Amino acid sequence: MRRRPSVVLGASGLVGQRMQQRLHNHPWFEMKAVGGSASTAGTLLDDVPWRLQENRPDMASLVVHDVLSTSFVQEMLDLDIEVAFSCLPSDVAERIESVMTQAGIAVFSNSSHHRGEEGIPLVIPDVNPSHMVAFSTSKGAHACGTNCTLVPLAVPLAALRGFGIQKVSMRSEQALSGAGWRLLYNQDAHSGHLSPDIPGEAEKVSEELLHVFGKLEHQHVSPAAFGVEVHCQRVARPDGHQVYVEVEFSEPVTRESITEAFSSHDWDSDTKSCPSTPHRPLHLVERIDVYEHLWSDGIQFTTNPDPSINLKTGMAVVIGNIEMRSSHSFSFSGYSHNTIRGAAGGTLLLAELALIQGRFSKA
Ligand SMILES: NC(=O)c1ccc[n+]([C@@H]2O[C@H](COP(=O)([O-])OP(=O)(O)OC[C@H]3O[C@@H](n4cnc5c(N)ncnc54)[C@H](OP(=O)(O)O)[C@@H]3O)[C@@H](O)[C@H]2O)c1
Repeated sequence: MRRRPSVVLGASGLVGQRMQQRLHNHPWFEMKAVGGSASTAGTLLDDVPWRLQENRPDMASLVVHDVLSTSFVQEMLDLDIEVAFSCLPSDVAERIESVMTQAGIAVFSNSSHHRGEEGIPLVIPDVNPSHMVAFSTSKGAHACGTNCTLVPLAVPLAALRGFGIQKVSMRSEQALSGAGWRLLYNQDAHSGHLSPDIPGEAEKVSEELLHVFGKLEHQHVSPAAFGVEVHCQRVARPDGHQVYVEVEFSEPVTRESITEAFSSHDWDSDTKSCPSTPHRPLHLVERIDVYEHLWSDGIQFTTNPDPSINLKTGMAVVIGNIEMRSSHSFSFSGYSHNTIRGAAGGTLLLAELALIQGRFSKA
């Protein structure tokens, strides 16, 4: 398969750099350009500060383009760019993503601006891959990844659909990197001097949860109808979002039936053959340790990851702390890497899925 020429929108950001890292050796997409703000534009990518813990991969010498300049889209077309991975703040994404799709460039977005918009699939491949049929409509080829906190909640819940979900209550503890590099590099925040509030986050998670579990008919998603209660909090940890969840079902459940559902949960065959798909979607442990369990490929953990050569690491959702509450309810904890599975890795997986499903206009 040829490698599709791609642009990463987000030169110095955490998600943008996760994407640069993942595209370094990607078999299906090749980073041919990179975009950023006017203040970074014109800089050699090698000179842009590298904000991830792992070493910067040895990337081709590229000059950062200004994504909001009037010539940006033409510059991308001149470079034969077919795919854009958008890692931009929402207000910037609003101004550029649709212009790119209308010019024929497929956009896979981490930003929240177009999430839930009719005709633009909002997809977690383990949960609602069928919603990808809405990709490539009159709005152009456009898809969005979800909020990063939704992933450790929705992927385990997808395994439990058969029990008839009635109500979901969730409390999150979200890492500093979830708010971008500025908070991650703020020493005061690491020593605990930070506001735990994340304005608007709980509403986004609730809405997107019902959306990904909803039914798609003629481009329109009717949201699922179970009860949802969400509280989100920031904590002083660099990476990894943990959620504490209680679920009530219409059917009776036992510890054995739940463990069996988690262990047997799997993807459709398309998703299974994507390079970013981990070995297993859910990695079950007795109790979650936020440092030991950050990087899972579905069957093993590592403390020495390199996502530029291993696309699967950091892509599985870890689950543990299972406790039965009643014959129809139980609680568990979910955990995933927010800038990998919850952002760059998740949207790259969407692009892989679109490609393997034959949804790109150019062969
Ligand atoms: N962090 C997470 O865990 C996570 C998870 C899911 C989704 N997201 C979403 O992903 C997006 C990026 O998040 P992040 O954590 O990477 O943020 P970040 O570290 O703050 O990076 C922001 C990026 O946006 C670019 N940017 C800012 N203003 C711009 C402008 N006016 N024009 C062009 N580019 C501009 C910056 O460009 P320069 O390189 O030029 O400075 C930088 O690359 C956000 O929409 C966020 O909500 C983040």
